[in-house]
Amino acid sequence: MTRWDQARQLLGFRARESTRVREKSSRAGPVREAVRTPAEPRSSGAGSICVVSGKGGTGKSSVSASLAALLARRGRTLLLDADLGCANAHILQDVHPEHTFADVIAGRVEMESIVTPCANGVELLAGGSGFASLAGLKAFELEMIGRGLQRLEPSYDHLVVDSAAGLSRQTVAFASACDASLLITTPDVTAMTDAYAFLKVFVRQCAAQGIARPMPYLVVNRAQSEEEAKQVARRLQNVVSKFLGARIELLAVLPDDRAALRAIQRRSAVVDSEPESELSRAIVTLSCGVAARLAHTETQAAGARLAMAAHGRSC
Ligand SMILES: Nc1ncnc2c1ncn2[C@@H]1O[C@H](COP(=O)(O)OP(=O)(O)OP(=O)(O)O)[C@@H](O)[C@H]1O
Ligand SMILES: [Mg+2]
Repeated sequence: MTRWDQARQLLGFRARESTRVREKSSRAGPVREAVRTPAEPRSSGAGSICVVSGKGGTGKSSVSASLAALLARRGRTLLLDADLGCANAHILQDVHPEHTFADVIAGRVEMESIVTPCANGVELLAGGSGFASLAGLKAFELEMIGRGLQRLEPSYDHLVVDSAAGLSRQTVAFASACDASLLITTPDVTAMTDAYAFLKVFVRQCAAQGIARPMPYLVVNRAQSEEEAKQVARRLQNVVSKFLGARIELLAVLPDDRAALRAIQRRSAVVDSEPESELSRAIVTLSCGVAARLAHTETQAAGARLAMAAHGRSC
């Protein structure tokens, strides 16, 4: 049985608890070097957080929209829709951006021209929909986005990146460019398996580029109960520890709540449309956790890192 099969078996709820997997300590070495606990005081610039998942539909855009809305109450906040080609963050902000990344890539406008102000104070960089080429940008195009972001960042306190599902080089580049990431999973075994797959690619890519990033913080979304979420977290933590030699922190549990659905129908972030809902209260707690962690993380320009990562280099 391959290591990947073993990891999948451990994540499955029907997997036998007695399964024993021997891990060679040498395999965990480079990964340990690639991750660190944020401890240094924050230096300057926008604190950046990338919202990721392996599987689609886990709630990345919903969480990003609310997180950005809450962070915008603390300081100037830029929401970057990195689901390029299938972008929909503008829907949850109820705006109709005149220009998107598609125009930047085509050389029609500068990045500054695609910033769209939203009613809740968030400023959006819209991703552009219906352009398949955006989902697989060439290195120089990704670098172009990185350089544009680098110019914008100093004017902001927070940068929230709503990423595409999956493990594409582009998606992982955005995650590794940010100061920290939120890994969203639901209790579905498939979502958990894909979350682990994301972590595996993330730590390998960081190690390959020789960059140190905190391990993504785990968020269990659509949980039926606290206990269910903790069980999901324990399983992932166990597998990540065994196979990647790393630790992941459960940062938040978000309940399954139809308020999420209603928010999308109203084209709003749930924290704006139903602030008293159980889900909104949980996202407020999450945003406090994010702000606290970013405050103790050395922030660097995500745009500069993205530009370097586009060519597989670190900075
Ligand atoms: N806590 C929740 N409770 C109930 N439904 C939720 C919750 N969070 C998200 N959803 C629903 O899940 C669906 C997917 O949400 P969302 O679009 O935010 O996911 P996503 O990860 O951004 O998807 P994609 O990978 O396609 O970008 C939406 O219908 C949303 O209303
Ligand atoms: Mg999305």
